[in-house]
Amino acid sequence: MQTVSQLDPLRDVVAVLKKDGPLALVPTMGALHEGHLTLVREAKKRAAHVAVSIFVNPRQFGANEDLDKYPRQMAADSALLQAEGVSLLWAPTVEAMYPQGYATNISVSGVSDGLCGAARPGHFDGVATVVCKLFNQVRPDLAFFGEKDWQQLAVIRRMARDLDLLEPKVDAIIGVATVREADGLAMSSRNAYLSAEDRARAVALPDGMRRAIAEVRAGAAIGGALAALQSALLANGFSQVDYAQFCDASSLAPLTALTDAPARLLVAARIGGTRLIDNMAA
Ligand code: PAF
Repeated sequence: MQTVSQLDPLRDVVAVLKKDGPLALVPTMGALHEGHLTLVREAKKRAAHVAVSIFVNPRQFGANEDLDKYPRQMAADSALLQAEGVSLLWAPTVEAMYPQGYATNISVSGVSDGLCGAARPGHFDGVATVVCKLFNQVRPDLAFFGEKDWQQLAVIRRMARDLDLLEPKVDAIIGVATVREADGLAMSSRNAYLSAEDRARAVALPDGMRRAIAEVRAGAAIGGALAALQSALLANGFSQVDYAQFCDASSLAPLTALTDAPARLLVAARIGGTRLIDNMAA
């Protein structure tokens, strides 16, 4: 595995790798867990080489968010990627990504607006901007993202369509199902922030979501099921529910009733100062 942190050598390495066939990119912010490694394994099935980027992107963190304390463990991450047979680790410095004078922002309207977009103003501009740059830097044929960040995936797909990024004729942006711990909690680098007590209580999130979906499928009103979910979270140590919404799976428009169209329950809630997100098919 070659590790590169500047653009010029990156272009040389990418040019050589692409001679062997399709190149897949797995963008990450590091602190890798089984969820990320699943993305790498899926990417390996579809490409001659896999590139992983690790970049803790300052532009997607709000002023009061966890940029400084976001876990950074480059040596351990690098060893994991090497063991998975990754060909290229692209780990740009902040200066390589956003040189002096950098002034361009990408904003995807509509799908970015509600849910995490409302709770974290500017977050999806930061995500869209860095992912667009990563696509232009690595020029992958395929890119893999976790479905755990369902809204992020929708934002990136919209941006790629709108800006003609990657190959439009193939489904080049691939969402991979959320990987969960044995008790059902979605894997996330931020789970490391949870105390043992909060970690045990955090299972109320997937449990409550599954219950709400079952209730609505059995005919209960969405409003009542969401109120019960919110109460269950607050009774189990969560301090705040940023949102809990049934949405159209593609447009993310809020739903007041399920139809035949694919739907998703999306939730963001805080426990012990940590913000957890999850989503499930409804
Ligand atoms: O999901 C993430 O880890 C990040 O939002 C991403 C896509 C790597 C952009 O910084």
